Amino acid sequence: QELQLNLEQIEKGGYDHFMLKEIYEQPSAILDTFRGRLLSNEGMIKLAGVEDNMKKFLAADRIIIVACGTSWHAGLVAEYIFEDLARIPVEVEYASEFRYRNPVITEKDIVIAISQSGETADTLAAIKLAKSKGAFVFGVCNVVGSTIARETDAGAYTHAGPEIGVASTKAFTTQITVLTLMALRLARAKGTMSSSEFRHHLIELETIPGKVEEALKSDAYVKTVAEIYKDSKNCLYLGRGFNFPVALEGALKLKEISYIHAEGYPAAEMKHGPIALIDEHMPVIVIATKMGHYDKVVSNIQEIKARKGKIIGIVTKGDTSVKELADHVIEVPETLECLTPLLTTIPLQLLSYHIAVMLEKNVDQPRNLAKSVTVE
Ligand code: G6P
Repeated sequence: QELQLNLEQIEKGGYDHFMLKEIYEQPSAILDTFRGRLLSNEGMIKLAGVEDNMKKFLAADRIIIVACGTSWHAGLVAEYIFEDLARIPVEVEYASEFRYRNPVITEKDIVIAISQSGETADTLAAIKLAKSKGAFVFGVCNVVGSTIARETDAGAYTHAGPEIGVASTKAFTTQITVLTLMALRLARAKGTMSSSEFRHHLIELETIPGKVEEALKSDAYVKTVAEIYKDSKNCLYLGRGFNFPVALEGALKLKEISYIHAEGYPAAEMKHGPIALIDEHMPVIVIATKMGHYDKVVSNIQEIKARKGKIIGIVTKGDTSVKELADHVIEVPETLECLTPLLTTIPLQLLSYHIAVMLEKNVDQPRNLAKSVTVE
């Protein structure tokens, strides 16, 4: 028993929980995802699975992304990135809905299945369906040799290393990293980006691990924010554009491990419902980074403030406007708009982690949840 405990302690590498260790591993996990693929000196991206099937990618009418849970959120971020950079229409589907709704799939579709474990039953079934209709299926998995990795026609691993915490953290950011590399490679091949724009993106992407490191420095402050809001019954997460899926993911993280009811919404949709819930007891986490509809988000923040909601802003370093309105601001470094999800996610992971620890919940193994869902 004691030996077992010691082993676990060693595996946690000095952290109290696997989740925290995995949050902190993100700079190196993202670097591992880049390795041999992001060649910024040569101005190139190399992804064998894309390279070998370039003709299919270039001929595709659209991309359909299928996934569940956090992987589905990574798919939503990818939708924004693929459409913006590579101008390919993208649909993102819950695998469980896709597989049962008689979807229109043709041989000109590319299906990208995203799965950390590579074992999720619904995602696997969606892949089989897509294959039976003649679509080309590409996998983005973390676990090497997993069922989904084997069942797909081609793929790209995230190389995040083992993720033990049930609440997914580094798998999410490395999924977004792989999908960003794919979108950039395809953008270059399709000519939807100039070579200087492309190079600029590569150089910025390369700075992300360092910027994630910097974002992690907000940890102590995030903990003080967690202390203030840990007893909330509800929590609202808002974001726009690339950061709308991050709002969904932030809310999911809080629900999963602290059992506090949380909802993620596109900021502008707030007025179509959630605004009715806002009062002085409602913490609202708003992703308000400098680029990407900043002014619109600031006016959303004003609406929350007018209703006495408590505002926690996730802002770009040096921000002043949100600081004046919000109760708390958590800064992340500046980067290209399409890369902001890799940074804004970090404080949200830390916030849910600290709240769950303060509430004495089982952070690494939350009730009723499983790391890998192999039944439907
Ligand atoms: C479970 C896990 C989540 C995960 C989801 C999809 O619900 O608890 O963390 O996002 O399955 O898993 P996958 O392995 O396919 O990414």
